[in-house]
Amino acid sequence: MIVLKSPREIEMMQKAGELLASVHKEIAKMIKPGITTWEIEKFVDAYLEKHGATAEQKGYKGYEYATCASINDEICHGFPRKEPLKEGDIVTIDMVVNLNGALADSAWSYAVGKVSDETAKLLEVTKEALYKGIEQAQVGNRIGDIGHAIQTYVEGEGFSVVRDFIGHGIGASIHEKPDVPHYGLPGKGARIKEGMVFTIEPMVNIGEFYMKMDDNGWTARTVDGTYSAQYEHTIAITKDGPIILTEQK
Ligand code: MF3
Ligand code: CO
Repeated sequence: MIVLKSPREIEMMQKAGELLASVHKEIAKMIKPGITTWEIEKFVDAYLEKHGATAEQKGYKGYEYATCASINDEICHGFPRKEPLKEGDIVTIDMVVNLNGALADSAWSYAVGKVSDETAKLLEVTKEALYKGIEQAQVGNRIGDIGHAIQTYVEGEGFSVVRDFIGHGIGASIHEKPDVPHYGLPGKGARIKEGMVFTIEPMVNIGEFYMKMDDNGWTARTVDGTYSAQYEHTIAITKDGPIILTEQK
């Protein structure tokens, strides 16, 4: 069942989204060679507390951290750790903010110092893919239109779209209906309605889309070892088009 949200609920989720966007803007300033994702985790925890919010991922299905920090070939759900980031790395920081019971979810990939041209292109294409998906999130379109736009663009740029993790409805809990794959066929899937709130969060690999799971049961990485990037926004559907609740202004 897809739970539609009232304008009041969307407004509250937007407040959570604004706070989340401000966290990402702070993280962007912190990222440089030598910093650890553990320091970022601690920063996020303190920042959310200072702003009267909590980290919804902590304790979710046994996950222990406020953030997911996925480095290089890690696709998603990397654990924050005390290993310094190096020049040329990329890192995706993903988190869900709970502000007064309203949730917002956003992931962002960051370049550490100077990255290779291919890696820079991966970041650029993945971010653009997110916005191409958002463009399709219009009342009357179908969920498949979103994935189709993302897949067509990403594959046209010579990269691949991860299949094992998808966008999702969000509301009272992190994962609700609808499922939002980042691949698929136009005109297929649920019809997009006013009041839906969901994430679009393409994970894009330089090489093939296959993933393998680490022994920790959480961290997914590319089978071929190529780098993987991800950008995620939470969006609300209105009759005038999608509102990006986690936009970094
Ligand atoms: N933020 C993630 C998403 O985009 C959810 C992370 S799952 C968790 O769907 F267990 F790490 F919290
Ligand atoms: Co997320």
